Amino acid sequence: MIIEKIKESRFTPEVFDIETFGTAFSDHMLLCWYKDGKWGEPIIKPYGKLDFTPAISVGHYGQGIFEGMKAYKGSNGDVYLFRPEKNFERLNKSAVRLDMPEIPEHIFMDGLKALVDLDRQWVPATHGMSLYLRPVMFATEEAITARSSNEYLFAILTAVAPNYYNKPLSVKIADRYSRAANGGVGFAKAAGNYAGSFYPTHLAREEGYDQVVWTDDATHTFIEEAGTMNVMVRIGDKLITAPTSERILDGVTRDSMLQLATKLGIEVEVRKITVQEVYDAHKSGELKEVFGVGTAVVVNNYVAVGYGDERLELPLLSPEESYGQILKKNLVDLQMGVSEDPFGWRVKV
Ligand code: COI
Repeated sequence: MIIEKIKESRFTPEVFDIETFGTAFSDHMLLCWYKDGKWGEPIIKPYGKLDFTPAISVGHYGQGIFEGMKAYKGSNGDVYLFRPEKNFERLNKSAVRLDMPEIPEHIFMDGLKALVDLDRQWVPATHGMSLYLRPVMFATEEAITARSSNEYLFAILTAVAPNYYNKPLSVKIADRYSRAANGGVGFAKAAGNYAGSFYPTHLAREEGYDQVVWTDDATHTFIEEAGTMNVMVRIGDKLITAPTSERILDGVTRDSMLQLATKLGIEVEVRKITVQEVYDAHKSGELKEVFGVGTAVVVNNYVAVGYGDERLELPLLSPEESYGQILKKNLVDLQMGVSEDPFGWRVKV
C-alpha cells in the first residue's frame, strides 16, 4: 500500500461542531483501481478531486455500490471499528449482484485500518459521536456502451458524523411506490436503490412526513425497511422486525440490535409484520414504538406513522422506557469501549 501523507492537516476541533452529516471529509482517502482484470495497489492520499469525463460509465448505467461504517474513540484514546467483516462481506455480495469485481479482503481491511489510523484525530472522543467511514465502488470505464464496465474504483472516504437526522422522524407507509422487488437489488447496497427512493420521499415530505417506510412491492401490506434504516416495531413488550430477504438490506445495526435485545431479555420476533397489525395495535393502544436502526442513524424513534390518510401519533416514551433508546445506549457503550464486548464486535485500529 502506498501512503502519501497530507502536508498540512485540515483538522481543527471545530470540525466536530458541524451540523450536517457527511459534508466534512477528513485529511485522507483510500483509492484502488481495477483495470485489465485485476486490482492495483491501494493508495492512501490527501482527500481531493478525481479526474473523470462525462462518459464515466457509473454516470450512465449506475454500477455503484457502497457501505456505511463508523470508527469510535474510547476514553483511553483507543480507536475501534465495529464488525467491519460484516461490511466487507456485504460489499462483495453487492458487487456480485451488480456484476462488479469483488474486493480482496486485505485491500478492504488493511486499507480501512491504515486510513483510520492515519486520520485518528478526526475520530471524536465524545460519547455517541464517531467518524463515518464510506467504502464505495463504482464503474469508471470511459464508455457509454450498456454493459458491465471493465474498470472500477474502490475508495474509502471518512466524514464527520453528527446526528444523521436532527429530530425524531415521522414516516409514511408506502402504498404506491416500491424500493425493491424479488429478483432485484434490494438486498444490495446499490446506489440506485437510494436514487429510486428520493422521489417518493419528496412526495411524502409534501404530505408532512420525513421518510418512507417501504412495504412489499406486490401487495404493500408488509412492513419492510426504511431505506436509510431497518424498521423495528414494538407491540406490547415484543420487538418485531421483518426477516431479511431479497428486498431488504441485511443491516449490521439491525443484526447487532437483535442480539443485544435478546441478551437484555427483550422478547424478539423476526417475522413478517403487516401494516394492518401495526394499525390495529395502534388502535388498541398496544403499539408502543416504531423505530429505525442503521449505522448512520443508530436509532431514530418515530413520532408518527402515516397510513393512507391517517397519521398515527406514537406515544412519547422516556429513554428508560423505550426499547429503541435502551438498545441505542447499550450499542454505543459497546462500540465506544465503555462496556464489555461479549460478542467480540470491536476491532481495535
Ligand atoms: C448507513 O447507515 O451507513 C447507510 O449507509 C445509509 C446511508 C443512506 C446514510
